[in-house]
Amino acid sequence: MLENKNVTVFVTGGIAVYKACDLIRRLIKAGANVRVAMTKSATQFVQPLTFQVLAKHPVYLDTFDEKEAQYVAHIHLADWTELAIVAPATANTIAKMATGIADDMVSTTLLATTAPRLIVPAMNEHMWENPATKANLQKLKEYGYTVMDPDTGFLAEGYEGKGRLPEPSRIVEEAMLLLLQHTAELPLRGTRVVVSAGGTKERIDPVRYLTNQSSGKMGYRIAEAARDLGATVTLVTASNLERPFGMDVVGVSSALEMQEALMSKFETADIVVMAAAVSDFRPVNQSDHKIKKTAGNLEIELEKNPDILAGMGQMKKNQFLIGFAAETDHLEEYAQDKLKRKNADMIVANDVSKPQAGFDKDTNEVIIFQPNKEPIHIDTKLKSEVAKDILQEAIKTITNL
Ligand code: C5P
Repeated sequence: MLENKNVTVFVTGGIAVYKACDLIRRLIKAGANVRVAMTKSATQFVQPLTFQVLAKHPVYLDTFDEKEAQYVAHIHLADWTELAIVAPATANTIAKMATGIADDMVSTTLLATTAPRLIVPAMNEHMWENPATKANLQKLKEYGYTVMDPDTGFLAEGYEGKGRLPEPSRIVEEAMLLLLQHTAELPLRGTRVVVSAGGTKERIDPVRYLTNQSSGKMGYRIAEAARDLGATVTLVTASNLERPFGMDVVGVSSALEMQEALMSKFETADIVVMAAAVSDFRPVNQSDHKIKKTAGNLEIELEKNPDILAGMGQMKKNQFLIGFAAETDHLEEYAQDKLKRKNADMIVANDVSKPQAGFDKDTNEVIIFQPNKEPIHIDTKLKSEVAKDILQEAIKTITNL
């Protein structure tokens, strides 16, 4: 998302300036072309040379330090910028932005740019609470700028409070979301996508459960790919993988919980992707105390869980339903059967006996089956790439391409 994007980081003077170094490293790692402009007070905290080395470009400090005669530096930088991040944003710079004051390189460039602006305030708690700061931030929001809320935690003043700069990783995520919002042509813009992921856990007693090998990776990659294509995403997950940003994440454990969470979203969904490995059975009795070891064998009676995908297949109106089939043999035959039996619009089949495919791998190799269409083979590649291919195929079918 940040690949080859021109990002200018405006660093203003507060103790959190040192964190801007990490932010710039992360932006560069994500593929962005980064320029840095600093206020005079920011340079009191960290030398411009640090930022110059990180960004591999001289830092912009002075409006009248015109190094290239053919350009006016602040206008050139303002026009070059595709995303402006003000981090840390002091109360002073926020006030200048809110009133249109342009008296240094940072404020002048920020006034001149038309790029989306991400403001990341960091300041003393009382400065943050001051009605003047609040009113200025409100104005910036009305101007269409994105303002991140500071974190609460240990402040440089030596006490707990609100005012800390959010973690650089979160700033990068917010920057990506902002760029997504400003990307005009995204094929899933306005589309609601619901994805299930992970292996459900069926309780036997408070410490034991039945589950399966599914890691949730394929579902997570699909949810992220849908987000990156502009969709509004809900991820219903039974997995503990790191929470992806920019979507609604609902944590569940059992198949019944997953069914309930999915059903509450089903009616308004446009595309549903059942990537979860839903347990087919659950214990009839779930003991509320730990089952004791006994001399003989233990029998656990299992009852059938609902087939969530098949249930949706019966209920669907305009929803496009995508299911998965994890098989070790007769791939095509079973997938075609599932397509019909579950009334799905697409079944993505993978041979889980293959070394590069299936559970807990980062890669997958799949065949996409759709009614009245030739199967599509997707050769081994990263699950994130497979996820894009699956959604692109769905988009083609939905739009009749
Ligand atoms: O029939 P099978 O379990 O192989 O089908 C797999 C597909 O059905 C997957 O998309 C899975 O998420 C879904 N499924 C379901 N409810 C179940 C079992 C599987 O929705 N109880």
